[in-house]
Amino acid sequence: MKPVLIVYYSRTGVTAKVATALAQACGADLERIQDLRPRTGVTGFLRSAWQALRGTPADIAPAGHNPVNYAFVVLGTPVWAGRMSAPMRSYILQQRAQFRRVGLFCTLGGSGGQHVLSAMANLCNKLPVASVCLRQKDVLSNNHLDALTSYAAELAVLRDSELQSEAEAKPS
Ligand SMILES: Cc1cc2nc3c(=O)[nH]c(=O)nc-3n(C[C@H](O)[C@H](O)[C@H](O)COP(=O)(O)O)c2cc1C
Repeated sequence: MKPVLIVYYSRTGVTAKVATALAQACGADLERIQDLRPRTGVTGFLRSAWQALRGTPADIAPAGHNPVNYAFVVLGTPVWAGRMSAPMRSYILQQRAQFRRVGLFCTLGGSGGQHVLSAMANLCNKLPVASVCLRQKDVLSNNHLDALTSYAAELAVLRDSELQSEAEAKPS
């Protein structure tokens, strides 16, 4: 079994920046959730807010990695209207039966992060092994690096303990 899969949705690149850095720090596989309809412009913004508020799942492309092959999956989303993004909701609904353990993170303009992390944990029906909220302005100015490093270190400890258990379980 592989240790970590990081799965994220990003409309404007902020969550993508965090997910990519985390994957590098943890040696994790990375999967970007792909929208089947574009979300550009004012219409895309309004549709995104509306879908998130209503809890309407979005149409997304089939996943490239199967989470069942990973000891834990880390899910990252932007906060939309105080909710998780609609593509992340779709991904969780489609894949949650395959999750073993989950870590969570979100990026946001200013408020609603803890509520979103709780809602994601509920939708996954899991207690997260680690979670963090990062503000967009901190990510864009690299002021998130301390928080990111601590979060990556938490994930690395979990990854190492998973690798060790796996090695101990193998017949010698
Ligand atoms: C439709 C929409 C609604 C948003 N609602 C919130 C919100 O309720 N609270 C907040 O702090 N940020 C909100 N934001 C800001 C995003 O969470 C923030 O810009 C995020 O870092 C963007 O991530 P991304 O570049 O990966 O898409 C909203 C953004 C969009 C597009």
